[in-house]
Amino acid sequence: MKDPLLEAALRARDRAYAPYSKFHVGAALEDAEGRIHTGCNVENASYGLTVCAERIAAFKAVSEGARKFRRIAIAADTSPLTPPCGACRQVLWELCGDIEAILVNLRGETESVQLRDLLPRPFDASIL
Ligand code: THU
Repeated sequence: MKDPLLEAALRARDRAYAPYSKFHVGAALEDAEGRIHTGCNVENASYGLTVCAERIAAFKAVSEGARKFRRIAIAADTSPLTPPCGACRQVLWELCGDIEAILVNLRGETESVQLRDLLPRPFDASIL
């Protein structure tokens, strides 16, 4: 696996703070300039405050000034591969639109899916 985006997601996974679930996730979001913004899941003793890897990557990117995105890679140690949760699909749709999501695991298995297929009939600004 030589795609730097996938490798960045796998490295970000190593930084997961997940003492409760022990489920480690990493994400790497590529912006239109080719910069890579990473995230890992960060849990909390008040479980509902947990934030997923994908949203951390997206929020970090936006807060650094990125506004257009190409792809996101999502890494977890599962087979079948781990897709983004519903909340992350909604946030990624808002901030990134119909980007490619590449799921990857530690064995190097990958799958590519478009965000529009993960979030059919989205609620977004076009409806407001
Ligand atoms: N999690 C993510 O970070 N991304 C996903 O796509 C699925 C779930 C995290 C949230 C929580 O810390 C742990 O995985 C178990 O749900």
